[in-house]
Amino acid sequence: MQRLIPTLRKDQVDLELLMLIRTILAATKEISFRVSQGALGDVLGSTLDENIQGEQQKKLDVIANQLIKNMLLSDANVRSIASEEEDDVVAGDPDGRFIVAFDPLDGSSNIDINGQIGTIFTIYPAKPSLAADDPAQFHQTGRSQLAAGYVLYGPSTMLMLTTGKETRCFTLDRTHGGFLLTNDKVAVPEKTAEFSINMANSRFWFEPTQTYINILLEGEEGERNKRYNMRWNAAMVGDIHRILVRGGIFLYPPDKRDPAKPAKLRLLYEANPMAMLLENAGGAASTGTENILDLETSDLHQRVPVIMGSAEEVEFAKSFYK
Ligand code: F6P
Ligand code: MN
Repeated sequence: MQRLIPTLRKDQVDLELLMLIRTILAATKEISFRVSQGALGDVLGSTLDENIQGEQQKKLDVIANQLIKNMLLSDANVRSIASEEEDDVVAGDPDGRFIVAFDPLDGSSNIDINGQIGTIFTIYPAKPSLAADDPAQFHQTGRSQLAAGYVLYGPSTMLMLTTGKETRCFTLDRTHGGFLLTNDKVAVPEKTAEFSINMANSRFWFEPTQTYINILLEGEEGERNKRYNMRWNAAMVGDIHRILVRGGIFLYPPDKRDPAKPAKLRLLYEANPMAMLLENAGGAASTGTENILDLETSDLHQRVPVIMGSAEEVEFAKSFYK
């Protein structure tokens, strides 16, 4: 079984990029350990603070953010950092070649119930003409991502990573501390009969989502002629992991609950890295009308409608959003 580094060397990944990926992974190994300690490590529960999104921060959100940020700031190749838990860009080395965005702990509501949680990250090239603290460093489309991935802290800790070619899966060997390659070419089944959406929001959905989900609920009596199953993890990282392994469709559509926030998920550090992982595994990712990877980020925390997963199902779902 191969380790992370020889695998990425074979892809001729730029050495400095490879070192940066290792830096991020070093932080995730520490997070993985802290997560596994649970109540014994005093990492459960909330802080008294809210983040920029108005969400209450969990202790582990803050710990994970600090660990990753500190590691990134020690890497001279990192020019700028954006995090779900930071209001603004954090400046790194003024001459760094890369910028990094991350969701330190996705699925925070699962922390206290010992459910799936994860770290999502993405690396872009820095814009040489812009300062390290300039948010416009991140004004790029998802197509510019040099590497994207997540580390899922589940029964095993797994890394899903793409550096532009295949999407690969690694499993953390806790005995020796390395991520070992366990799937060198992740392939998302094109068709699926499994969907993932928060059904509790259905009365707030707009008409296209209502119509599409109703067809799936009709099962073999409906237009799709098959019986669908439903799964909802409340952690994007868990839902997308399942879809990368066995197919499915994941939706977080805009809804009418809060007119100021029609969509929930963030483009820069949630939708874009997941879209790159899925596309490089044969899946698809859309807002309903546009390919997610073609959108240009204009705000670090901008929200975007998300429909992603098995290509044929995403294509069918899109037909309702024209
Ligand atoms: O990060 C936002 C997030 O926690 C995702 O990981 C997850 O898919 C979604 O929000 C869960 O939303 P809800 O609270 O509607 O279940
Ligand atoms: Mn998240």
